[in-house]
This record gives sequence, structure tokens and C-alpha cells, in this order.
Amino acid sequence: MSKTSPTPASHLRNSSRSADLYDRACAVLPGGNTRTTVYTPPHPIYASHGQGCRIWDVEGVARIDFLNNYTALIHGHAHPAITAAATQQIARGACFSMPTESEIALAELLCNRVASIEQIRFTNSGSEAVMMAIKAARAFTGRFKIAKAEGAYHGSYDHMEVSEDAGPGAWGEPEPLSLPYSKGTAPSILDEVVVFPLNDLALTETIIRRHAAELAAIIIDPLAPRIGLIPARQDWLSLVRGLCDELAIVLISDEIISFRTAYGGAQQSFGFRADLTTLGKIIGGGFPVGALGGRSDIMAVFDPTQGKPAVPHGGTFNANPVTMVAGRVAMDLMTERAYERLERLGDRLAEGIEAVFRESGIDGQVTGRGSIRRIHLTTRKLHDYRSAYPGPKEKARMAKIYDGLLSRGVLMAPGGMIALSTAMSDAEINHFINALREVVSG
Ligand SMILES: Cc1ncc(COP(=O)(O)O)c(C=O)c1O
Repeated sequence: MSKTSPTPASHLRNSSRSADLYDRACAVLPGGNTRTTVYTPPHPIYASHGQGCRIWDVEGVARIDFLNNYTALIHGHAHPAITAAATQQIARGACFSMPTESEIALAELLCNRVASIEQIRFTNSGSEAVMMAIKAARAFTGRFKIAKAEGAYHGSYDHMEVSEDAGPGAWGEPEPLSLPYSKGTAPSILDEVVVFPLNDLALTETIIRRHAAELAAIIIDPLAPRIGLIPARQDWLSLVRGLCDELAIVLISDEIISFRTAYGGAQQSFGFRADLTTLGKIIGGGFPVGALGGRSDIMAVFDPTQGKPAVPHGGTFNANPVTMVAGRVAMDLMTERAYERLERLGDRLAEGIEAVFRESGIDGQVTGRGSIRRIHLTTRKLHDYRSAYPGPKEKARMAKIYDGLLSRGVLMAPGGMIALSTAMSDAEINHFINALREVVSG
């Protein structure tokens, strides 16, 4: 790993370029920040550039990027084919007040890959895609409540923030309460959102049946990052699908991250069919993107050909051609073999991490599948949000591992999430495992 320089955690030094930039940022951005996720105390490390599977900070320190802009970059940084496609498009014009062929080409690819997506629309973020999917479900059913899993993250649309970070003592026993995440949540939103526990068949069925007459949609993520990347159980997915069929509720699969797990998305790897699917992240080749697609009878709520659609959906940068061409190239590169290779690397990494924990007598395990994995510093059985909720000691140990890895040339998420890219090989996986061994034995 000669290209990755192990250094002391430069971000913790007070006199660094990152510290100086952060001081500057604080004057013009609240808390120096414009994206909550990337704030890490005492200040974030500022990026300089990226190439392949490496990211350089402004101090000149290179690290292997096991985070990939929170899973959005499946080919790492500055892939030559994606860069060429985007720059060629920029030279021909970045965005127009007319649609382009590039939108059709990416739509065709996604409709061909995901069995349940008959028609699709593009947005500029995953949050917008989820918001539009929910509006579509409401317009289609004539109902207004939404059901979501406790702890699941589906972006920043008001309804989706409900019970996103419920904590012990306040989360409700046994039924999850609808709790605000943000002080910006209006109380009326809480009345419109029903919360159920992932993988609990009896409670999920009771809660859904109780609200069925008012429910427009159930939104699930079969591999939800904020529920610890714990896979949804097959019998739970069948139950939810069955309830949606019986009670005429729209089933939305949020695959903004979990689409990464298979050529045909999470519905292929988990074996179920949604009515609507939301996508984002990797489908934009590193540019801002979101998409919602599914049954054409539901998607018809957006059809403008008969006058004002049931759900009007504008957006100055929707389907902008730079994102569309970059996304098409990125997805074309994701062949079935590319997914298999990433799955193999992910399995090797997970096995290697668990072996280090065993050798060192550390309580720990790895969840997830394919190119997304998550470290948990516990051996208890993980089956839902509550079982995966880390206690204060687990959080403190994770912070040490995160810092130790950063100092040894590895960037992962502070909470332990890892996202692989096709730019990686066994060498990077070995680097991670060896760095972790050093951290836990140090
Ligand atoms: C499952 C899921 N849904 C929705 C979103 C929101 O996407 P965006 O950040 O593009 O708004 C995210 C983002 O991480 C996500 O992980």
C-alpha cells in the first residue's frame, strides 16, 4: 500500500489546512457545515481530490475510500469513462429547457434491470424521489398515511424523518411511537406516519391492519443502513407484500443504497416485487440524482398529456444530461460480473474483519451484503433497529476504531458502514483488515 501514507490523524491537529478551512467555513455556514452527515468533531477533514479507490485530504494524506460518498460512487473517483462522458456533455451544454435522449437511455437501462419498474422519472436527490413516490401513492390510493420501519432513513422529506433516531426509554413499548427527529417537524406530520418494527411479523401485521383504511403506502428498505444493514427477513417481506395486496396499499422499496446489492437491485437479491421503487446514488455516476419508478398504472399520476397531472412534478435539473450520461456509463460498467466481483470482495472483507475480532477477543460482527457492510461492536443477535442500537460503550469503541483506521489510511463511516468500489482489489481489502488488526491490538 505504498500509495497510502499512514500518518497520525492529521484531522485532529489544530494547525492544519482542514482546521483553517473550517474556521473560514464557520463564518459563512452554520457550524461551518452544509451537510450534517459530513461534520465530524472537532472539525471535518477537507477533501482535495480523489482517484480510483483513493481520496486525498488537503494535507496531502491519501486514504483508501471505503465510504465512497456514502455509497454513491460505485466505481470510486474520477473513473476515466465516466469523466469523459460527463466532460463531453458539459462541452455540449450542461442543461436545457428541453428533454434529451440521455434521459431515455438511462430510463431504458433501469427499466430493463429492475423487474418491477415499468416506467421511471428522475429527480435530483434520493429525498426528492421518496417524496414524489409518496405523493404518487397518495394520489393513486386517495389515502394519506404512510407506514415506515422504526429507525429507517429515507431522506429529508418530513414524513420520512419520523422515528428516524428514536432512542431507548422513549421509543414506545412494544409498539414504536411516531416521534419527531427534527424540531422542524409539524405535529400533524406525526399523525400521518405509522411506525412498525423491521422483521417483527406479529407487530407489523397488527399495526398495518389497524391503520389500513388510511394507509397510502408502506415504505421499506430491505437492507436499511440506519437499521444496521440488517437484512429484512424473507417471511417478513412476504407478509408486507401480502398485506399491501390484500389492503390495496402501495409498497415502496427504497433502494437508494440497497440497489447496490445486485444487478436487478435489492428486489432481485431479496426476491420480492415492489409497486414503486426509489433509486439514487450510484445511478448518477457521481452526480446529483434520484429516481422513482414502478407500475405504469401508478406512474400515470405524473402523465401530463391529458392536462394537469394528478401529481405535477417539475424540477429545473431533473434528468439533467450530465447526470444522465454519467449514470448510463456507470451503470453499463456494472455488469453481472462486476456485481459478483464486488460481492466476493465484500465477503472477504466481512470474513477478515470478523476473524480479527475473534483473534483479538473483541465482541463484533459484520452485517450487510454485496458491496455494503457494517461493523457492529457486539455479538448480540441483530434483527431490528432496537437490537442494533449501539450503547454508549459500543459508540466509544467505534469512535476509536474509526480514528485508528483514519490514521492508517482507511476512510469508513464513523458509525462503521463500509461501501466498496470496483476500483478496489484484494490489496485494499487486505489493507483494511491489517489496519484493523493494528488498531484493535494497539
Ligand atoms: C435509503 C435512503 N433513502 C433516501 C436517501 C436520501 O437520498 P439523498 O441523500 O440523495 O437525498 C438516502 C441517503 O443516504 C438513503 O440512504
